[in-house]
Amino acid sequence: MNLPSADFAQLAALAEQNKSCQACELRLGCTQVVVSDGNPEAHLVIIGEGPGGDEDRIGRPFVGRGGQLLDKILSAVQLSRDEVYVTNIVKCRPPSNRTPLPLESETCTSLWLEPQLALLRPRVIVSLGNTPTQYLLQTRQGITKLRGVWHDYRQREALYSAYLMPMFHPAYLLRNDTRAVGGPKSLTWQDIKEVRSVLD
Ligand code: URA
Repeated sequence: MNLPSADFAQLAALAEQNKSCQACELRLGCTQVVVSDGNPEAHLVIIGEGPGGDEDRIGRPFVGRGGQLLDKILSAVQLSRDEVYVTNIVKCRPPSNRTPLPLESETCTSLWLEPQLALLRPRVIVSLGNTPTQYLLQTRQGITKLRGVWHDYRQREALYSAYLMPMFHPAYLLRNDTRAVGGPKSLTWQDIKEVRSVLD
């Protein structure tokens, strides 16, 4: 896939504007806006909740322990950071890593994530954990019920849709570190294999 150069330029311009966003109070408490990482031409976009402490300091999403686990999950199906695009529901670190408030998710997503996705137009989206999954699917159901099944992501105003696979958040996997069959790690292994199978 080749992203048209006009879309590349728009994506870069959007990222620049995003970096000076002050649309909500999260910007007051964080070091910098963390926009994205990876390959804008990827068929797969991975969406997390929001930057943590390491991401806030370094300026890239998923660079801490959770990010290292994410890289391992991807490499288990022969995917690297260069073959996916990674971003978050909110681009500024919430205080003490709390869950973003609904208004913060709404503001950040409508200003930044939705335009990003409309330019990237990935075939497949993976949402990690409750926050991005519930927001993107506009549901209150939990990740345990939603994961492992394909959902339809449709943007409100753009003529764009994608297959969406919810998976457990790597931070949750780090807290529930069991290899038991049917446990979160083994389910995540199944889920990423399913994602891989539709990318080929
Ligand atoms: N957790 C997230 O959801 N996103 C990050 O970028 C880092 C940790």
